Amino acid sequence: MILSSGLALIAVCLGTVGAQSVSLESKVVSYPPYVPVKQGAYIIELEDGSTAPSFSAFTESFKSIPNVSVSGQFDTLFNGCSVSAGSHVSAAQLARVAGVKRVWPVRYHTLPFRKSTVNITYPYLHHKTGVDRALQDLGLTGRGIKVGIVDSGVDYNHAELGNCWKTKDCPWQYGADFIGDKYDPSSLHPIVQPNPTPMDCDGHGTHVSGILAAQGPSVRGVAPGATYGMYRVFSCPINGKVSSSDEIILQGVEAAFKDGHDVISLSLGGGSWPEDPLSVACSKLAKQGVVVVAANGNDGANGLYTAGSPAVGHGVISVGSVDNWNITGSIAVISTPNGARSALMSTPGAESHPFVFGSDMPLLAPVDAAGSNTGCANFTTSLSGKVALIKRGICTFTQKAQNAQKAGAIGVIVYNNVAGMLSPSVDDSVTIPVVIIGQDDGQFAADGIAAGNSTVRAQKGEVGTFPATTGGQMSSFSSFGPSPELDIEPLVSAPGGNIWSTYPLKLGGYASLSGTSMATPYISGTVALLMQARPGLNVDEVRQILSNTAKPLADAVSGKLIHPYWSGSGLVNIYDAVMARAIASPSALSINTTDWSQAQALTRTITIRNTDNSKGVFVSLEGKAADSLSMYGTNGSLTAVPRIWPPSTAGTSPTMLPRVSTTSPYTYVPAGQSKDVLVFIIPPYGLKESERWFYGGFINLTLSWDRETAKSSLAVPFAGYNGNYRTVDVLSSPSTGLPALTDANQVVISDVSGLVVSGNSTALLLYTLDLPSRVIAATLVSSNGTTAGYLPFGYNEYTARNLPSGGNPLSGATITNIVFTDKEASQAVKVPAGRYRVQLAALRPLGDPNNSRDYQKWSSDLFSIA
Ligand SMILES: *[C@@H]1O[C@H](CO)[C@@H](O)[C@H](O)[C@H]1NC(C)=O
Ligand SMILES: *[C@@H]1O[C@H](CO)[C@@H](O)[C@H](O)[C@H]1NC(C)=O
Ligand SMILES: *[C@@H]1O[C@H](CO)[C@@H](O)[C@H](O)[C@H]1NC(C)=O
Ligand SMILES: *[C@@H]1O[C@H](CO)[C@@H](O)[C@H](O)[C@H]1NC(C)=O
Ligand SMILES: *[C@@H]1O[C@H](CO)[C@@H](O)[C@H](O)[C@H]1NC(C)=O
Ligand SMILES: *[C@@H]1O[C@H](CO)[C@@H](O)[C@H](O)[C@H]1NC(C)=O
Ligand SMILES: *[C@@H]1O[C@H](CO)[C@@H](O)[C@H](O)[C@H]1NC(C)=O
Ligand SMILES: *[C@@H]1O[C@H](CO)[C@@H](O)[C@H](O)[C@H]1NC(C)=O
Ligand SMILES: *[C@@H]1O[C@H](CO)[C@@H](O)[C@H](O)[C@H]1NC(C)=O
Ligand SMILES: *[C@@H]1O[C@H](CO)[C@@H](O)[C@H](O)[C@H]1NC(C)=O
Ligand SMILES: *[C@@H]1O[C@H](CO)[C@@H](O)[C@H](O)[C@H]1NC(C)=O
Repeated sequence: MILSSGLALIAVCLGTVGAQSVSLESKVVSYPPYVPVKQGAYIIELEDGSTAPSFSAFTESFKSIPNVSVSGQFDTLFNGCSVSAGSHVSAAQLARVAGVKRVWPVRYHTLPFRKSTVNITYPYLHHKTGVDRALQDLGLTGRGIKVGIVDSGVDYNHAELGNCWKTKDCPWQYGADFIGDKYDPSSLHPIVQPNPTPMDCDGHGTHVSGILAAQGPSVRGVAPGATYGMYRVFSCPINGKVSSSDEIILQGVEAAFKDGHDVISLSLGGGSWPEDPLSVACSKLAKQGVVVVAANGNDGANGLYTAGSPAVGHGVISVGSVDNWNITGSIAVISTPNGARSALMSTPGAESHPFVFGSDMPLLAPVDAAGSNTGCANFTTSLSGKVALIKRGICTFTQKAQNAQKAGAIGVIVYNNVAGMLSPSVDDSVTIPVVIIGQDDGQFAADGIAAGNSTVRAQKGEVGTFPATTGGQMSSFSSFGPSPELDIEPLVSAPGGNIWSTYPLKLGGYASLSGTSMATPYISGTVALLMQARPGLNVDEVRQILSNTAKPLADAVSGKLIHPYWSGSGLVNIYDAVMARAIASPSALSINTTDWSQAQALTRTITIRNTDNSKGVFVSLEGKAADSLSMYGTNGSLTAVPRIWPPSTAGTSPTMLPRVSTTSPYTYVPAGQSKDVLVFIIPPYGLKESERWFYGGFINLTLSWDRETAKSSLAVPFAGYNGNYRTVDVLSSPSTGLPALTDANQVVISDVSGLVVSGNSTALLLYTLDLPSRVIAATLVSSNGTTAGYLPFGYNEYTARNLPSGGNPLSGATITNIVFTDKEASQAVKVPAGRYRVQLAALRPLGDPNNSRDYQKWSSDLFSIA
């Protein structure tokens, strides 16, 4: 078991035992060790009453603490400031200043996106989302709407992005650089040195900008006529990482707010709670009437609860990603005795070793020393001068490529062992070109090679267009909801997988990238079109209309509806949004219990507002079920891909699905009026509460307008927990062997009773969180039942769940003879020698931190502290 960042015993100053704090929650947020934070840097949020006039007096009180300086002010959007403090200043000291509501360490951020590999023909997208009709038939362009983009900057010299900066009629009228080119979190004092303009040296921001603003001919943005601002908060790549911090992102967001943008687009994120500083700031923006659009995250491979902050912020439009329908990209022509075939290539992005062979090269399918075609063992025959065809599986792409390289191969084609394309990556030890091709193409090549001499050719610029097998489906990387408080995330989805857009001129001018980062500007653009067409809509109405008119997605194979925790309300349709003459609210329904005695909890009101002042409308209402999802396999182990119920379409009875019941299946809403309709969500029958299922679906409203024959429809997604959400376990199941005490090398201690922790030794408490938890407290408890204090790293609030294939597979705390008597970890005491146990308490969802019964608890056996 490996922690992404080691737990070390932090330096502590031994003090006297302080008074136990009264409130159970701490004003100081402490992040788990795997979250990278900037030393001595904090974001301070002030009590809501502390308004601007008293602000300067307030900052004076910080300055009066020696070695503390106020490094930034967030006076408009976020009531607070950022400070840098000497190493001897504790966060607890800052929290004691009157008027302080919360103190957050400043986290570092890296840009989340995955480079994809093939070039895509962009315009195919727009007829799937109604953007083509909004632009062509309705003449919308976003004109008059101001959109602020907080990102890595923009190459505004790109012809398709206007080739201008803040000149008359230029799309770029606002923005600035907040970071510069050299920001490197691995240095002690990362350099912030903004340039005069937010020029992009990375590419992410230019790509995002093209999706919104490109003027054609190669890329057509969603809102080419809007006015734009670029707030550059990400630096240039350093050792492959493009970095920023909470503080700098907040500065960019606040500047965008002050410039008066109607829409702010954020293809960035981290954390997972609405209480995260970026979420808090964005919720405030939304309250002030700005439409904030944020990427839901690229952690879909880890399943549920992977939605990020600020996407989970209240009132923020969180965006999921759908894969592009067609892929246009470079091809390899494979010639065999059975014929020739063009195969779409996905390259690992090693631009220094492009897979280019101008003439036919011999193609072999070598067998390795283990007798396998997967190339995971050494090749025994020479591949000199040949291209090797290797099947995906068993080992990494790098190992396969290294083996072929050692045998003298001049190139490697790995073919997929399942349907679909993917983006392989190989490390720098591989100096020959490597590509991946699809399963069918690979099988064709393998069969051909078996039949006789075969060759491959890949000429520069030779491209083909292929339907993507995953086109129109949710992108596998797109994060899942719900939020920790069971809100449905994302709100809506847009094309984000394999998107062709502008790129900095120095980096080739165009590129294809994948991520919810790409889906986010798509939605921001649709919001600009909607606001141009329907001025005066407020943030809630924008959310409701987008959600109502999005098209629920169905699984390509089973045809069953995709759960709202993955796709939200479905694929955006902006034409229908602009034309919608009725609004259903709220934008989504979340149900937290199946306890029928809490009938309130199962009943919801949908308000249907007829915005057409001349015609009434008949509304018929019908429930449409999606599959239920569980994070656990039949044996109780966490699964990455959620398990679904019912397992197959055959034999599904209606009671296995959630149903929607209403007293008013048909309603007439007169012109310009509103009607409330009560709905009851009936959970699926027969799902075991212990298996922790989440059900979901859509309420479909069919609208028939007076004197019109054509019908239209609106949808409201719903989802809920099958059981009482407050009683869900948040710690991983005991079958994982965690929580456990381990030695400093993370080896589980089998006989804890024999463990002796002395002043010069440490042990660890390791655990995994399957769900996010608001409060985690790991304490040392004496054999007589007295709590000695918190373990180092033992107290955390608003913690994300651990992601098996992310940067945080495990959580933990340190066990030594020192504990903290306060949550802020400022009062350290040495405990007397004796027998102790570790107690871990994790607050269950929606739990009250002050109520000990709302915690899931675990205790170790007794051990000795010497
Ligand atoms: C917990 O109790 C403290 C002290 O009584 C109170 O200030 C705080 O608001 C309570 N927290 C919650 C979430 O109820
Ligand atoms: C506080 O700041 C002063 C002046 O910059 C410096 O000399 C001193 O070493 C600092 N003290 C600590 C504990 O960081
Ligand atoms: C895919 O590309 C073909 C042309 O190669 C085009 O006719 C078709 O409309 C495209 N499909 C989608 C969904 O964009
Ligand atoms: C993608 O398109 C760009 C611009 O047309 C071109 O330079 C690049 O070689 C293409 N890349 C691939 C993988 O086809
Ligand atoms: C593979 O070849 C390398 C030398 O290229 C050698 O060091 C290694 O032991 C070989 N591995 C096996 C399993 O034969
Ligand atoms: C296959 O290639 C080898 C040399 O690489 C050549 O000797 C042989 O004649 C070829 N066979 C056919 C059927 O073309
Ligand atoms: C569910 O949420 C409602 C508020 O929407 C709340 O009143 C109720 O107590 C919650 N039920 C549970 C079991 O948490
Ligand atoms: C549970 O089943 C999965 C496969 O479905 C397997 O990988 C895992 O090891 C099993 N876990 C236990 C504890 O049996
Ligand atoms: C909702 O109803 C309309 C017909 O009014 C239908 O076309 C549409 O497919 C339905 N949506 C879902 C998700 O079933
Ligand atoms: C730890 O300290 C004890 C007593 O002070 C000593 O006997 C022991 O050798 C030390 N262990 C290590 C690993 O330094
Ligand atoms: C419980 O044990 C701790 C540490 O061993 C000791 O300091 C404390 O006095 C004991 N309390 C009681 C009530 O015995």
